Parts: sequence; C-alpha cells; structure tokens
Amino acid sequence: MSTEFENLGKLEREARAVLEAAGNTQALTEARARFLGRKGSLSSLLRRIGELDATERVRVGQAVNTSKQRIEAWFQERRRALEEQAQSHALDRYGLDVTLPGVAPPRGHLHPVTLIEREMTEFFSSLGFSIELGPEVETEYNNFEALNFPADHPSRDLQDTFFVEGGHVLRTHTSPVQIRAMTGRQPPFRFIALGRVYRHDNDATHYPMFHQIEGFLVDERVTFGDLKGVLYAFARHLMGPEVQVRFRAHFFPFTEPSAEMDFSWQGGWLEWGGCGMIHPRVLENCGIDSERYQGFAFGMGIDRTAMLRFGIPHIHLLFDGDVRVLEQI
Ligand code: PHE
Repeated sequence: MSTEFENLGKLEREARAVLEAAGNTQALTEARARFLGRKGSLSSLLRRIGELDATERVRVGQAVNTSKQRIEAWFQERRRALEEQAQSHALDRYGLDVTLPGVAPPRGHLHPVTLIEREMTEFFSSLGFSIELGPEVETEYNNFEALNFPADHPSRDLQDTFFVEGGHVLRTHTSPVQIRAMTGRQPPFRFIALGRVYRHDNDATHYPMFHQIEGFLVDERVTFGDLKGVLYAFARHLMGPEVQVRFRAHFFPFTEPSAEMDFSWQGGWLEWGGCGMIHPRVLENCGIDSERYQGFAFGMGIDRTAMLRFGIPHIHLLFDGDVRVLEQI
C-alpha cells in the first residue's frame, strides 16, 4: 500500500500545526481548506482510495474519516479561540463588548389618519371608484362658484374660509375636486377624493386643518337609493355590521336633494357627513348634460373616524405629534 495512506498521522500533525499557527479567521479558513476542502489533502487521498484492494479500502477509508473529524475539531477549537481573542481585544481597546445584544431602534408606524384613509380607499377601489386629487390652495371658483354657491352669498362666510390672495382660498372642503374631475370629461364617473381641508375653527372636536373624503358617481339613471346603498356599505365596512345610518334632510348649494348622515354610536348618533344628488347646475358647470346624467355625491370627515377607531378623545392629539400618544396606536 502506498505510504501516502500510511502517513495519515503525519498529515494530521501538520494540519494541527498549520491551524494553530493561523493568526486570524482568514488564515484559519485557508488552512482548513488546505486539508479538508474539496481540493484538500484528505479529499485527494479519499479520491484515490480505489487504488487499494477491498479490505484495505475499508480500513483506510475509516482512518481518513477519523482524521477529518479530528482536524475539523481542531479547526473549531482554534476558531473559538480566535473569536475570544478578537472580542477581548475589542473590549480592551474600545471598551466594546461585541457580544452584547444590540439596541433595536424604535419602529414607527403610519399616522392614524393615513391608516383610515387607506382603509377607505381600499373599500371604494373594490367598488370600482378611482382616486382624484386637487390642490389645497384652490380657486374661489372651484371651491364656491362652480359648486353653485352664489357670489357674495353668506354661506361662504359660514364655512369660515381662509382667503388667500388672487382669488384663491384654502379649500374648505373636497367638493371642488368634483369640478376638477368632471370638467372636460364625460360620464360615467366613479371617483373619490381624499385630502386636507381648512376652516377657521378650533376646539376639542375641530381643528383648522382636517381631512375629508369625497365620493361622487355620475351615470344615467342614478338614484338616491344608490347613494344610500353605497353609504350603508361604507359605514358597515368602517364600523362593523351592526352600525345604523340615519339621513336627515339638509341643504347644500351643490346637491339637491341634500341630507346629512349620522351613524349609530354607543346608543346615540354621531354626525358623519353630507350627501345628496349632484345639483344639475354643477353638472352643467362642468359641461355635462344634466338631462341625460344624474349623480350623487357625499363628503365626510376622516379624522373623526380615526378618533373613534383608536379611542383618541381630542382632535388636537391627532396632530400635535406627541410620541406618547402616537405610541399607543
Ligand atoms: N362638502 C360638504 C361639506 O364639506 C359635504 C358634502 C359633500 C355634502 C358632497 C354633499 C355632497 O360639508
């Protein structure tokens, strides 16, 4: 039998010496590869084991495997030693204990209003509504005139408008997006618009900036019944299957007939928003034939829903950005 196979003991001793001499992990990995790797000494020996006769083969095969295990064990031992060395080195030099658990950075989350907005958007997307956007600094025309508020009508003041120079306002509602979305297009329409709106109003339930969602649908043969069906489904989606919705006759310049909606909440009613059939004049202002097409529209605050859902008692808590509050959501 070839002496190479007899010299396993010598190979082992050599391997041990090389592993012990390795001064860092890279050298150690290279040392291991030299003996145990696919092209290492022991693997080449094993590959040539066929040169031996059958009984020898078994004996030598076992011997080579035992050597492999021993060398692997030395390798592991040396690796641990090197790691400990590196660690105590880091400790001495930088006062750094690399084995201490890390500090997990606190993870943020979406704002409650954003969470509710996403939920609302998902609901209306599932009904085939798509999203329209408009600017927060809006023309007086889109915010009022086109929506059938007569010029200089007191209702403009009732909305506590923030006026901006040059015939602009901070939009007081999302309804001007109706004008933007419908002008220059022809029905059928199914749109929602979400965003910030501004009114000069400030107390426990009002903030000068808040969020609304507007929805509108225009087609042939649209009825108030369609509007109620959509709003009932929406309320159930937000508040659960038990929720009741109540419609009260109301007035908006841009819908006729109009209603305010409430939903049931803890044995009472909470004001939810406004709705109605889009006023024919609004459709005409957008270049739509109001004899042929009808539509409904609705608009409601988003912040209220977020407050109810997350048990936030005061609207200011939503926007003050106090981490102690936001962490609880
Ligand atoms: N824009 C109205 C408001 O802000 C709500 C509304 C929207 C009413 C659509 C009717 C139709 O109060």
